[in-house]
Amino acid sequence: MTKKIHSKLVLLGTGGTIAGTAAAAGDNIGYRAAQLGVDALIAAVPGAAQALGGSTLVTEQVAQVDSKDMSFAVWQRLAARAAHWLAQPDLQGIVITHGTDTLEETAYFLQRVLRPAKPVVLACAMRPATAIAPDGPQNLLDALAVALHPGARGVVAVCAGTIHGALDVQKAHTYRLDAFGSGDAGPIGYVEEGALRLLRNWPQAQDSSSPIAIEKIVNAKDWPRVDIVLNYAGADGAVVEALLARGVEGLVVAGTGNGTLHHDLEAALLAAQRQGVRVLRASRCAMGRVLGQSGDDIPDSRGLSAVKARVELLLELLQAR
Ligand code: SIN
Repeated sequence: MTKKIHSKLVLLGTGGTIAGTAAAAGDNIGYRAAQLGVDALIAAVPGAAQALGGSTLVTEQVAQVDSKDMSFAVWQRLAARAAHWLAQPDLQGIVITHGTDTLEETAYFLQRVLRPAKPVVLACAMRPATAIAPDGPQNLLDALAVALHPGARGVVAVCAGTIHGALDVQKAHTYRLDAFGSGDAGPIGYVEEGALRLLRNWPQAQDSSSPIAIEKIVNAKDWPRVDIVLNYAGADGAVVEALLARGVEGLVVAGTGNGTLHHDLEAALLAAQRQGVRVLRASRCAMGRVLGQSGDDIPDSRGLSAVKARVELLLELLQAR
């Protein structure tokens, strides 16, 4: 008898606007995020059963948060559940419903910790489920199409018919339905009427980054303090000094332009570095990457945005413990 493999699709709920409700249908901003369970979300997707084909859907409510309040505890639970399901040979893929506000951080965290050879697809929405025309059901249906696509792999996000890779995805708009961009890299592809049009490769399971021991991450009791500081006119070292007093272990500075720093802020960061704080230099620009030079006093973030560089430092510091 031939054994059917890759027949299970797992849907993990974490909250967000996609699970949000408002008192009035016309209200797209005065709603409460994270109100509906993941079963209710999938039940509201016309065509979900057809999209699933013969695959069995398993749902789990991992958390119920507005993603602005994302916590290390939720990340740990999410990574542990995703790792559990990814280890099952009959798993086709995972879809995670998530708020848009910190989606790019969770996407990067999961890619670094899981490096999955199967698809892990983040689905979100800019309008609550009670909107006159909610975008969540279509985004969820598109996410199913991505997770069920043969050859799909890695952590990706799907929003407004566009597939973004975890390394590049960035929330770029406060209000529009097509709220995400992938910067210079561009999206991985599009979902068009349930079919994928791919423009580039899926995220690599074995990329050049160093592997992270997932057990260390999901079992960590206390996380290192890593903060982000910004360069701007008149920036000085006061914030850095205050953070040193709070025991900061890592700092990401979102510099101006190509990661440039006001000399007072730079002096404070160099002093922090001398005291053993890990410091990385990203840019506050939405596009491009910091082009470092050999001999730079503060290393650049190797193309990572400030929030993703912070995740990287958190993981490095946890790993080193
Ligand atoms: C959230 O990030 O949970 C709320 C905002 C959104 O999902 O668009």
